[in-house]
Amino acid sequence: MTTEPAASATAAQAPDGEVLRVEHVSKRFGALTALTDVNLHLAKGEVLALLGDNGAGKSTLLKILCGFQPPDSGRILLDGQEVTLKSVDHARSLGIDAVYQDLALINQLSVYHNMFLNRERVRWPLLNNRAMRRVAREHLDTMGVNLPSVDVEVARLSGGQRQAIAVARSVYSDAKILLLDEPLAAMGVKEAAIILDLVRDIKEQGQVSVIIIAHNYGQVLEVSDRVNLLQQGKITLDKRASETSVVELTNLVVAEYRAALEARHRSA
Ligand SMILES: Nc1ncnc2c1ncn2[C@@H]1O[C@H](COP(=O)(O)OP(=O)(O)OP(=O)(O)O)[C@@H](O)[C@H]1O
Ligand SMILES: [Mg+2]
Repeated sequence: MTTEPAASATAAQAPDGEVLRVEHVSKRFGALTALTDVNLHLAKGEVLALLGDNGAGKSTLLKILCGFQPPDSGRILLDGQEVTLKSVDHARSLGIDAVYQDLALINQLSVYHNMFLNRERVRWPLLNNRAMRRVAREHLDTMGVNLPSVDVEVARLSGGQRQAIAVARSVYSDAKILLLDEPLAAMGVKEAAIILDLVRDIKEQGQVSVIIIAHNYGQVLEVSDRVNLLQQGKITLDKRASETSVVELTNLVVAEYRAALEARHRSA
């Protein structure tokens, strides 16, 4: 990538290898401003860590990028083309798949049915359960996720196991852009390592781009190419992962907290 395109970039001006661009996106919920003039870009095969404190706007941004909710203003470009994401299914059809912080699994269905939710394999006129069961087993084994059976209802699994299934479903969905909202949150040490290895594999293969949200800066810095820090709905830092550190990021967040505290004291 050489020069940054102007805000009015058209398809012809999209930088080589850029799969996603967010321009001037803002979002309010009533009186609350969740995002202000957010600009972000993502290259093919790039892993971008989206960091920031509770309430910074990270999930709000991801929910806009996966078609769950529209922005109030600003635009989204995929491969240089402006798109209006009408729904999660629409975004998925364009190659964007998300793992939500508040998970989207159906408790009453089996593990393998959940893995093929909305993309069931059919051997007309019936669901091809045998194929789905076999592929689900293979994918979970490849990921190192231990489950007694892919036939159990998701309701009977632990939070971490459910999260592993949600991540596996996205990773094997043929998406071009994966959005992972705190995929490590409910994970034990081993399960978190599995997910991080998976992201590392994706990065090495260089075909799929990832935006990952996590609160453990050390863990995500290890697997990311670049970091964006969101503070109170604004992106305040955009750096290569190798050029920042847990200390720098923590200091920025703590400084923001101190400044807010002082402002409150002054106005009290
Ligand atoms: N549907 C909604 N209605 C009203 N307010 C909302 C809604 N969704 C998010 N918010 C508010 O927007 C702000 C940003 O929330 P968001 O969930 O994006 O934060 P986050 O950075 O993901 O935080 P966390 O790290 O805690 O998950 C918060 O103040 C939140 O209360
Ligand atoms: Mg969140």
